[in-house]
Amino acid sequence: MPSALKGKDILHVKDLKLEQISLVLETAARYENVVANGGRLNIMAGKVLATLFFESSIQTRLTFESAMLRLGGNVVSVTDVKASTSGIKGERLYDTGKMIDGYADVAVIRHALEGSAKELADGANVPVINGGDGAGQHPTQALMDLYTIQKEKGRLNNLNVTLAGDLKNGRTVHSLSWLLGKFGPRFYFVSPQELRMPPEITKALCDDGIEVVETSNLEEAAAKSDVLYMTRIQRERFTDEQEYERLKGVYVVNNEFIQNARRGITIMHPLPRLDEIAREVDAYEGSAYFRQAANGVPVRMAIIALVTGCE
Ligand code: CP
Repeated sequence: MPSALKGKDILHVKDLKLEQISLVLETAARYENVVANGGRLNIMAGKVLATLFFESSIQTRLTFESAMLRLGGNVVSVTDVKASTSGIKGERLYDTGKMIDGYADVAVIRHALEGSAKELADGANVPVINGGDGAGQHPTQALMDLYTIQKEKGRLNNLNVTLAGDLKNGRTVHSLSWLLGKFGPRFYFVSPQELRMPPEITKALCDDGIEVVETSNLEEAAAKSDVLYMTRIQRERFTDEQEYERLKGVYVVNNEFIQNARRGITIMHPLPRLDEIAREVDAYEGSAYFRQAANGVPVRMAIIALVTGCE
């Protein structure tokens, strides 16, 4: 039976059906097992992944490239941020998509502009994966977040989940709230007033019957939550530096905070972190953010293999 994701672009989590999400999670678990047991996968031999990173990234880029190498494939890269500036209206990305067909079997793009991944995908015939477009979406991060929650909590259904920090500009929380919303959570959206979750996301969740509590009180939310997903204040999305200076450091998770949070709470973060999680918290057994980062490799292995039909 052909893969339910073969030939598909991964641009927005809203495009993913429940069975496709399950397929990614199951395939990732299988690949993680093979790699952990010293096995080798050579299913992408002779295939090429193009990584087009026009905005800075450590984790997404390295996990995608590591994933492709672990599948037995090869990688070609663009990392020149300036290469994207003359294509600000998107025409160049469309043409880049046309060219990519000749160079690669699958492509992943990171770009500062929302809609950039779609522009590339409009030109390309090969599957295009959105590795983060401005304050828009980061669908593969959300899939690795789901994978992490399932591993850490043993389930995805009926969890109390706090998303905290810069909910206005953080694409990871935009994607995760759509995706986790399919599993009946109770959400606490914790942010300063200026950085609230975009109202269209909150409204869509509420219309689907999801309970959403919006608050600025992180302590109260963490006392009721199974999972706390922290995010940094996204300096690069601010037009007013003074406003960033005023809001940065608004939330800090430290050992004292953990003492007052719900017992067994899992702490996640898409990374990089600034000062919103103190380093002392790394020793807490529920701190899952580095395990979460490592989970990016099997999840992205699964995504690459599934969209190319090589799984
Ligand atoms: N989580 C994430 O997207 O990290 P990078 O910006 O380092 O890719």
